Amino acid sequence: MSEALPKLHFANRAAVITGAGSGIGRALALHAARQGMQVALADIDAAALAAVEQEIKTLGTECFFAVVDVRNRDQLDTFAERVFSTFDSVALVFANAGVMRAATSWLQPSADWDLIVDINLKGAAHTAAAFIPKLLAQNAAAQLIFTGSTSAFSPRPQIAAYSCTKHALWGLAEAMYLELKTLDAPVSISFLAPSGVRTAIFDTPSQAPGGEVQDMLRAAIEAMGMPPEQLAEITFAALRERKFWILPHPDFKESLQRRIDRIVAEQPPKFG
Ligand SMILES: NC(=O)c1ccc[n+]([C@@H]2O[C@H](COP(=O)([O-])OP(=O)(O)OC[C@H]3O[C@@H](n4cnc5c(N)ncnc54)[C@H](O)[C@@H]3O)[C@@H](O)[C@H]2O)c1
Repeated sequence: MSEALPKLHFANRAAVITGAGSGIGRALALHAARQGMQVALADIDAAALAAVEQEIKTLGTECFFAVVDVRNRDQLDTFAERVFSTFDSVALVFANAGVMRAATSWLQPSADWDLIVDINLKGAAHTAAAFIPKLLAQNAAAQLIFTGSTSAFSPRPQIAAYSCTKHALWGLAEAMYLELKTLDAPVSISFLAPSGVRTAIFDTPSQAPGGEVQDMLRAAIEAMGMPPEQLAEITFAALRERKFWILPHPDFKESLQRRIDRIVAEQPPKFG
């Protein structure tokens, strides 16, 4: 348990998820519903949202969805208003929406830079900005979870723009955690760092030079990736303990340690 944070109960409280129409977001939403939570879903894909809402309602749980583009702060504010007027108590907010477009770093089209930064970084920051003041006003135990990535710590060639946003998200998450701690608030932050989860993240092809790495990653993850349901289970177990770091792939810790050792020893980057 993180120091001095009140226990987090899930049942009969709400979970909010951006990027809830697919992959990790969908699995988190379904897992939340199975914990007896009410669920608010946000995504840009209305059809996907409607399908997830249907699945959740068959579990007998109260649920609604809103088409929200996390690049749009006004839409997030309206969504947050609706969440707090629909549900009595919000326990979890997952700032999860994200995209990937692989490319060799200096050949990444500027439109892709904008897309990736606006969704993965600024979209997550906007989500936190829309929800944290309301969570603080609620004055009950609550956790905001940023879906980062192991790419936050270990950049991979050809996904530099994506890695940059996840590095930056790590910085935002730590700063926000410390700010909330200074307030002695019952609200805190988690940084979820998955790697290789079987989702649709690689499906939109990247036409840029180096973009073919995305197909390679997709094939590897289809063969060996973690099912999103397993990730959701690990995540909720960590949230019960209100952990800041959620590192669902234990093997990654070894390579993280090697990387830290190389930095401390002033050795240049080494992939893998
Ligand atoms: N799948 C992996 O291996 C993996 C690894 C590390 C981190 N992640 C992170 O997990 C998160 C979820 O990705 P996923 O793997 O489930 O991918 P996914 O593509 O299956 O789901 C992402 C969802 O986000 C939605 N989305 C995209 N742009 C949006 C926007 N502007 N506003 C609102 N919603 C938007 C999409 O419509 C989609 O439903 C992302 O932040 C991703 O970076 C994934």
